[in-house]
Amino acid sequence: MSIPTTQKSLVLRKESTPYAIEEMPVPRPGPKDVLVQIVACALNPVDYGVVDPPLSRVLVHEWPHVPGYDGAGIVVELGTEVSSLKKGDKIVFQGSGSTPGATCQQYAIVPAELTAMIPDNVTFEQAATLPLALVSDVMALYNHSPAAENLSLRLKPVWEAEGQTAYAGTPALIIAGSTSLGQFAIQLARLAGHSPIIATASLHNAPLLKSLGATHVLDRSRTKESILAELPTLLGGKPLEFVFVALIDVESIRLGCAALAPGGALATVAANPTQIPEDVANAGDGKRIGYSFGSARLPCNWETGVALFKQITGWLEKGDIKPNPVELLPNGLAGITEGLARLKAKKVSGKKLVVHPQETA
Ligand SMILES: NC(=O)c1ccc[n+]([C@@H]2O[C@H](COP(=O)([O-])OP(=O)(O)OC[C@H]3O[C@@H](n4cnc5c(N)ncnc54)[C@H](OP(=O)(O)O)[C@@H]3O)[C@@H](O)[C@H]2O)c1
Repeated sequence: MSIPTTQKSLVLRKESTPYAIEEMPVPRPGPKDVLVQIVACALNPVDYGVVDPPLSRVLVHEWPHVPGYDGAGIVVELGTEVSSLKKGDKIVFQGSGSTPGATCQQYAIVPAELTAMIPDNVTFEQAATLPLALVSDVMALYNHSPAAENLSLRLKPVWEAEGQTAYAGTPALIIAGSTSLGQFAIQLARLAGHSPIIATASLHNAPLLKSLGATHVLDRSRTKESILAELPTLLGGKPLEFVFVALIDVESIRLGCAALAPGGALATVAANPTQIPEDVANAGDGKRIGYSFGSARLPCNWETGVALFKQITGWLEKGDIKPNPVELLPNGLAGITEGLARLKAKKVSGKKLVVHPQETA
């Protein structure tokens, strides 16, 4: 196919202004990159968060800004050093959240190492639900880079043999199990052999979470005290040494820390200790806390990201990791503004909103 010189992109001209659709240049791949025609792009809370300070000051390095971290599409051009992919390959990849690697546009540049082929049993829309959420979970749990020493829990990765035995039979509690990150955290816990796997969520999401591996789902509207009181029965006498809190929410993080046994590991999806209450950051009792900055493109995350992307095709093919349920929004990139408003208003439950950038009028 011939590659156009311009494309439609969702653009933020400056902070605290509305997104608009504009014509932007189609970028060209560097030697180790590929150019992807994006078929499906999934939305995330960061896509509305980045519009205003403080996040705009942290994440936007150049204006105008194009957002988007989750993409799936077709390889249309190869960098000169890329031999692992060919034109026409269907790939899932993590966007960079900014131009030229953002996914809220029709074409993006992606490092070939941070891509995975989409198997035939998975659609572009489903594949697009994975990258940011799965990368964020994996960085909180398995990043052994020296630069992430005080961030990741540095557990044994579930794709290594030891990671499938070291925690087998030990319990896991996943708080906010129906967030996108929570759904993947449940599945990683299942692959690691944790048992039981207890999740909190709205009860209408219980069948979904049980299909992913949760053995028990507790109503998230219950009080902290009532959840803590029920846990010992569900744990059957085993100490709870692993908790994953899949939401940046002070009370959820406090619940996770209170439930955790001394010496246990508490994974959070906060980027650093400033995002969690001091009483948790300084919990003591030998409790370890994991943080996550969910971009595989950061130098400190790169190696772990490459290792993760090597697993994704096989996991999807075998159904070891199931994508989030999808709601496809109409009107291409023009549907994003309303989708982000729904996300911000907390009106999306247990699923990912996805758009087709090529359908933009
Ligand atoms: N560190 C990073 O790099 C990074 C990257 C991505 C995301 N995050 C953070 O990760 C979190 C999850 O993001 P996401 O995209 O996965 O979210 P999401 O899918 O948009 O979350 C929607 C879900 O949140 C659940 N929820 C809302 N309030 C809750 C509460 N108080 N307790 C339990 N569940 C609650 C709802 O569950 P029910 O419908 O079952 O009630 C709903 O299904 C966010 O806080 C986000 O900021 C961090």
